[in-house]
Amino acid sequence: MDVRSRNYLLMNRQALEKDIKTSYIMDRMISDEVLTLQEEERVKQQNTQKERAAMLINIILTKDNNSYRSFYNALLHEGYRDLAALLQDGIPAISSGNRKSSMDGMTSYVKTILCEGGVPQRPVVFVTRPKLVDAIKQKLFCLGNDPGWVTVYGMAGCGKTVLTAEALRDHQLLEDYFPGGVHWISVGKQDKAGLLIKLQNLCSRLEHDSALSQRPPLNIEEAKDRLRLLMLRRYPRSLLILDDIWDSWVLKAFDNQCQVLITSRDRSVTDAVAGNKYEVHVESGLAHEKGLEILSLFVNMKISELPEQANCLVRECK
Ligand SMILES: Nc1ncnc2c1ncn2[C@@H]1O[C@H](COP(=O)(O)OP(=O)(O)OP(=O)(O)O)[C@@H](O)[C@H]1O
Ligand SMILES: [Mg+2]
Repeated sequence: MDVRSRNYLLMNRQALEKDIKTSYIMDRMISDEVLTLQEEERVKQQNTQKERAAMLINIILTKDNNSYRSFYNALLHEGYRDLAALLQDGIPAISSGNRKSSMDGMTSYVKTILCEGGVPQRPVVFVTRPKLVDAIKQKLFCLGNDPGWVTVYGMAGCGKTVLTAEALRDHQLLEDYFPGGVHWISVGKQDKAGLLIKLQNLCSRLEHDSALSQRPPLNIEEAKDRLRLLMLRRYPRSLLILDDIWDSWVLKAFDNQCQVLITSRDRSVTDAVAGNKYEVHVESGLAHEKGLEILSLFVNMKISELPEQANCLVRECK
């Protein structure tokens, strides 16, 4: 969904949640083929009218422009003219051409999703490593709709974090496989107290727009339960990225039947958790040529114009 449309939904969600009754609206959206029966069921399972409306909006937020248009039309035709008017300026234009606005997949949709998910930006000086980036994407495709783990592993400083963030800069991947968004957590080496703080921060991030603000979870078990429900109910089909995992016990807190991408120096970190597992080995640091490319970008010279000493410098940095 376009960022503008998404923002209109977010800006007006309180008014929408307060007033709409979901059943007729969902009937229309189902006949427009933008809502599935399973999604309708998830909405119906909520206890109050407000919770049903909130769930429907959360589901629409993970969807495309057609869903926004269908929702708008349903409001208009089911007696919610005033609410439809609030969303009118957010109706996305029908695009005629290629929806990608840039060559490398960095559409405004990608920028928004990655920014919201806390994915690190590219380093200022950046060289491409397309084979490794593609290998990570392929493993994410392999996850399909099933829960599972992708581990990107390799020695310290070989570029795991940068490669993983790069693999996520892909409109198609995000829209088709992770329409619920991505959530990046820099984990690092942690003890139990440190992990609890990471989990508390993650829960509060995922709950940020909830009407009811909850107290932070008090221990790792409670945080794990909270996270499981959040991922299941509010962020289905999203991806957790756990960057820089040192110990396998840490992963147990995230072992919640969701889809997780890990970076680690240790290939065996996922041994203790269940589910489908895929791995990508980042064999070494940047190749000599890539090192020269970085140096040339830093000093603003063509590689062919670098002096002989440049080779020694790059070798020394390895
Ligand atoms: N493709 C790249 N282009 C330019 N610089 C890069 C690239 N990949 C990595 N670097 C630089 O190399 C350094 C190490 O990269 P990164 O943090 O991704 O490694 P890592 O494997 O995640 O390390 P660690 O094991 O410590 O987590 C960083 O300073 C990063 O900016
Ligand atoms: Mg790293």
